[in-house]
Amino acid sequence: MTVWALLVAAGAGERLGGERPKAFVGLGELPLLAEPLRRLDESGWIDSIVVAAPPGWEEPTILLAEELAATKVVAAVTGGTSRAESVRVALAEVPHDGLVALVHDAARPLVTDAVIERVLAPLSDGWDGAVPALPLPDTVKRVEHERIAETVSRDGLVAAQTPQAFLVTTLRAAYSGDLAGATDCASLVEARGGRVKVVQGDPKLLKVTTKADLEIVASWL
Ligand code: CTP
Ligand code: MG
Repeated sequence: MTVWALLVAAGAGERLGGERPKAFVGLGELPLLAEPLRRLDESGWIDSIVVAAPPGWEEPTILLAEELAATKVVAAVTGGTSRAESVRVALAEVPHDGLVALVHDAARPLVTDAVIERVLAPLSDGWDGAVPALPLPDTVKRVEHERIAETVSRDGLVAAQTPQAFLVTTLRAAYSGDLAGATDCASLVEARGGRVKVVQGDPKLLKVTTKADLEIVASWL
């Protein structure tokens, strides 16, 4: 089974508010992107890696891969204007014999082999995809014009993370149509009737959105 990791790193990082795109903001001694890139490259589950880089940052992405001796990186493509567009561009680099795509947010630096194994396993059991998720710790409300309209039952609700794994054929079909409103890959696969399994997520897969998140992830390194 040939597994292609698509590492989407093309976002601007507006909410982080740095001078560089989020993937190139410092985490420890290196750019944030270095951490997930090194972890995917070292994973025995991953064969090849495509990075969707921020526009203008393709060359620094390749140089970073070289510095890390991340030899599985086969391309740094220019990301699109949305996450879904960036996934589509990266997916186009996967050759026809690529069987599985594992899509991961560079903004979740602390990806582990354990979670990669958990999302890959269901693909051998007839599932079209698998997503790591965590239960919701807080009470969930639906709000309309500042007023709580409803307290939503948490039964059956989870928060989805990445890496998300899919059969390449499934993912290509899902990305062949309209991408508007898609915040993760699974939503596009679900919309076409794909069977996507939920597996145990990891609190350390926290997505770096704000400066406070960056400090938390740095403290976990
Ligand atoms: N992403 C991407 N291409 C885009 C937008 C997002 O590859 N056009 C990637 C980001 O690099 C990130 C992941 O999708 O790894 C999740 O996006 P998010 O956390 O929203 O990152 P940003 O879009 O960079 O942050 P912000 O929304 O604050 O600008
Ligand atoms: Mg964003």
